[in-house]
Amino acid sequence: MPNTLTLALSKGRIYKETLPLLKAAGIEPIDDPETSRKLILETNQPDVRLIIVRASDVPSYVEYGGADIGIAGKDVLLEHPNADIYEPVDLRIACCKLMTAGRENEGEIKGRLKVATKFVESTRRFYADKGEQVDIIKLYGSMELAPLVNLADRIVDVVDTGNTLRANGLIPMEHIADISSRLVVNKASMKMKHARIQQFITDIRRAVKEQQNG
Ligand code: ATP
Ligand code: PRP
Repeated sequence: MPNTLTLALSKGRIYKETLPLLKAAGIEPIDDPETSRKLILETNQPDVRLIIVRASDVPSYVEYGGADIGIAGKDVLLEHPNADIYEPVDLRIACCKLMTAGRENEGEIKGRLKVATKFVESTRRFYADKGEQVDIIKLYGSMELAPLVNLADRIVDVVDTGNTLRANGLIPMEHIADISSRLVVNKASMKMKHARIQQFITDIRRAVKEQQNG
């Protein structure tokens, strides 16, 4: 829409951690997505609305113009290496690490390593860079289970406290990437709504800085 800004983000962690940044930028949603079933949320700013999408769908909404702006984890963005979008701000929220992990007492692994993950692209690139041929098994969640039932030797997942790995007898092994959430922008919107989007970026950058300075 010509004079509105549509911002795509996911419920849960990203929404919760984005709210204070939006508030500092003067934007407050009218409904709470955790209690409302609405997927389009109006805000106190008549020209800004939020749309609630799956975390992994944010790059598609932004690339193809379903949203002008989005907020996505770098882990998700790394799965879309060819997405034609701008990534102007590191929001420094939802911070974690993308890592390989495996069983604490894994025996000798015979043949090709089997790696279970929802991060197929990052995993493929990580092992290709090491010159190691592996079989990647695509999963959509509960990756920690895979080594426990011999579906895979290793997993690639995001790790924060390490509690989920520990609770399942797994240990973090190799560091693949530092992850935080990023602001992403549709390229056509950046042209057509330049002044409004620049203003939004400036406000959010200031909010990130203020949050970092405590
Ligand atoms: P989808 O619904 O598409 O499967 P998801 O369930 O992974 O997505 P969330 O768990 O809300 O979505 O995670 C959103 C983002 O938060 C991830 O893309 C990642 O960047 C970051 N993240 C995930 N887990 C953690 C964690 N334990 N600590 C900090 N940040 C995390
Ligand atoms: C994420 C991720 C890991 C866990 C890592 O799961 O998939 O399982 O966090 O965090 P930790 O190192 O602090 O334990 P999340 O809690 O988001 O649940 P999900 O599987 O529903 O995404």
